Amino acid sequence: MSSLQDAIIEALDFFPEHRKRNKRTEFLNLDILFDEARKIQPISTNAFDFILMAYRYAHPFYTFADEFLDKKTIKPLLLLDLLHLTYSCLLTRDQIPHAVLVHEIVEVSKKKFGPHTSGLTNAFCRRVMDRRDELNKSILSKTEMLLGQDIPKQIQAMPQSKEWLHRLSSQIMQRQSSGIGAFDENLHWNPTVNIEAFSPTQKIQAMDLGSWLWVEYVLGKIDHQSKSKPIKILDVCAAPGGKLIAIAQSLIKQGFTVELWASDVNFQRLERLKENLQRWNFIKFSHVFLHDWASDEQKKESIPDDLDLIIADLPCSGLGTLHKRPDLLLEHFSERIPELCEKNKKIIKNIKPYKTSKNTIAVSVCTMATNEIRSVEKALLGQILDTPHFCSFEKTTEPCEGILGYTL
Ligand SMILES: C[S@@+](CC[C@H](N)C(=O)[O-])C[C@H]1O[C@@H](n2cnc3c(N)ncnc32)[C@H](O)[C@@H]1O
Repeated sequence: MSSLQDAIIEALDFFPEHRKRNKRTEFLNLDILFDEARKIQPISTNAFDFILMAYRYAHPFYTFADEFLDKKTIKPLLLLDLLHLTYSCLLTRDQIPHAVLVHEIVEVSKKKFGPHTSGLTNAFCRRVMDRRDELNKSILSKTEMLLGQDIPKQIQAMPQSKEWLHRLSSQIMQRQSSGIGAFDENLHWNPTVNIEAFSPTQKIQAMDLGSWLWVEYVLGKIDHQSKSKPIKILDVCAAPGGKLIAIAQSLIKQGFTVELWASDVNFQRLERLKENLQRWNFIKFSHVFLHDWASDEQKKESIPDDLDLIIADLPCSGLGTLHKRPDLLLEHFSERIPELCEKNKKIIKNIKPYKTSKNTIAVSVCTMATNEIRSVEKALLGQILDTPHFCSFEKTTEPCEGILGYTL
């Protein structure tokens, strides 16, 4: 089998219909599936590109496939994933001659799904090739086609919805060749923020330009003059520690000392948080503990009442991260968001008692969804705002996470 056929087969396991074979892979995020797969063996660059590109083109693909199949059922259903890969590959891959691609795809179809499938796969390839220019033109001129119907509905009630939708959809295309930032060690950006302390070899996982800008915003809110006393910071959704470490490192560079209380509800992520704090030599100033901040359980760790900063980087739908996580384009946001809103309301309720006249509570959400945003605003500030206190999209035109921030 050729290496291209190997890459196609390798990629298919991460496609929607293949994932549905197992409840676990169906519901886990793609980045977690990648992480797990990588522990066994590296994912080839070709397979990785096939997967990301296919998710980016998922909505136009399903529309095209419906028209092509004309209500006929496809057998086996897993073949739909190969057609999905075919669609995005034929529209976007110019490095490999299309005749070669088509040949390899049809070979995979025969080997993996049976010789009887080659006719359908071949016909699908021809249909895409016949309409290639027209399809590419319409996707490139109307990038909002990439978002499907659910995402615009989630955002449409916001005053900034038009601009946000434009940013989200155009960003999906801008990141074509880079990987998913959370684990792409080679990801580079133009650091507009002044945190030069971070050396390229020690980059923190999961930090994106949007996060850096939020860090800069929060740093501006810390009101602490004394260099003799440590700045005390509590981060309740800290893992894997990107934002907390960025904030602490910057304060240390300015000559302050810090003491950190860092917790998370997820044990595995807490382990990664500990590793990151260790790598940055913060562990000796840190109290790391597992805690569900949405519950009323007793905390195992005692927390001082003179904190300078309380951070809650809330668990959210991730609608602001579509450029890095194109699998979210197929997420059922309307089902997930109400549950997240409830959780975040409880987390905010549980951190508010730490507010004093001298400190700041800084909350961030990586979403553009109206209900999520409004529920955070109501819980934290008691009112709905026209514009969030901080929005990463207003700070840069570069592709970045859509992060909204609030302080109390
Ligand atoms: C957006 S991520 C935090 C990223 C982190 N601040 C960083 O910069 O690396 C949200 C985190 O909230 C945690 N989380 C979710 N529900 C929680 C809860 N009820 N209590 C505490 N942490 C929670 C998740 O495990 C996840 O690690």
